[in-house]
Amino acid sequence: MRTKIIGAGSIGNHLAHAARTLGWEVVLCDIDEAALARTRNDIYPARYGQWDEAIALVPCEDAPRGGFDLIAIGTPPDSHMALARGALAESPRALLVEKPLAAPDLDGCQALLEEAEAAGVAAFVGYDHVVAESTTRFAALARGLEDVQTLDVAFREHWQGIFNAHPWLAGPADTYLGFWARGGGALGEHSHALNLWQHIAHEIGAGRVVEVGAMLDYVDAGGADYDRLALLNLRTEGGLVGRVVQDVVTRPPLKWARIQGAEAAIEWQCIAAPYHDEVRQVLAEGAARMERFEKTRPDDFIAEFRHIEAALMQGNADSSPIALRRGLDTMLVIAAAHRSAREGRTITIDYSAGYTEKALAFA
Ligand SMILES: NC(=O)c1ccc[n+]([C@@H]2O[C@H](COP(=O)([O-])OP(=O)(O)OC[C@H]3O[C@@H](n4cnc5c(N)ncnc54)[C@H](O)[C@@H]3O)[C@@H](O)[C@H]2O)c1
Repeated sequence: MRTKIIGAGSIGNHLAHAARTLGWEVVLCDIDEAALARTRNDIYPARYGQWDEAIALVPCEDAPRGGFDLIAIGTPPDSHMALARGALAESPRALLVEKPLAAPDLDGCQALLEEAEAAGVAAFVGYDHVVAESTTRFAALARGLEDVQTLDVAFREHWQGIFNAHPWLAGPADTYLGFWARGGGALGEHSHALNLWQHIAHEIGAGRVVEVGAMLDYVDAGGADYDRLALLNLRTEGGLVGRVVQDVVTRPPLKWARIQGAEAAIEWQCIAAPYHDEVRQVLAEGAARMERFEKTRPDDFIAEFRHIEAALMQGNADSSPIALRRGLDTMLVIAAAHRSAREGRTITIDYSAGYTEKALAFA
């Protein structure tokens, strides 16, 4: 696989390492010379032991265009749409856009979908948790659960860890993270939780989210404007009611999901201890059966790239849990949640209106 990765930041390094682990060719580019230098001298060697000379590290303007199997966009969310649509013009076999797919105004979302479909490019969104081995097991057990009552997913993680990985940033106001309208804040940054909720709802046949009631704790301070806590109540087409919680204040972090049936529940926990995920089957009287899935964070991105390669080979990218439409579904709920929180009202989603704000209405 010939791969171009746009954005040599934290995720760009993870993706470059995953691609190299699979023996793929990598061009890694950025518009910022300082980011290229940091990648070579700091981030990559600190994370993975040493810089890999086989990676072509170049300013974006010098990066080759055309002839790639995969183009991955690993830049801030409010730059994704323009870069992704530009990447389609290079006719790669596959496109991977990082999460969250866009800013909550949904600008460019419907156009990206139409252009990807017209170009016949297999497009994916970087919600890697849903293709992890532990999540595949969780989904399989969830499908077998009788009489599902509710589903809860929480990704609660203080963002100090992100700032530790970006020591050149003084705080939230220095980056998109500090601005909910740019795709930052708890709802954008930790949208893995919402996406996982939607994935499991889909797996058990409960359908897409059609009703969103949200309360967000917005912080407008120090030049930043973001949500530090996002509480979402959701209802699907099939009538499943449940909850998503995302925040940037919880330490130590908790990345957890639970689906409750009439007689039993299934729980999933990401990095329950260094370094494994857990899936637990919990009976009403409390007995539990636990399975462990050894992994480190870099393994998630290797699994994601293996998934994309397999989807290309099997020609079934459209039904992938990380297919573009799934990431767009998550964007619609993010947009609905901000509107719900700001207006204090429940929002309904009409998918026939496409991936635009027209899909959102007051209940
Ligand atoms: N899937 C995951 O688990 C995961 C993990 C981390 C980050 N992310 C996502 O990846 C994206 C980037 O996050 P990050 O932490 O790597 O940010 P970052 O700030 O570390 O890196 C972003 C890089 O993009 C570059 N950039 C900005 N605009 C550009 C453009 N137009 N062309 C080329 N390069 C450009 C910046 O110079 C910077 O080096 C976000 O959407 C984030 O949510 C996903």
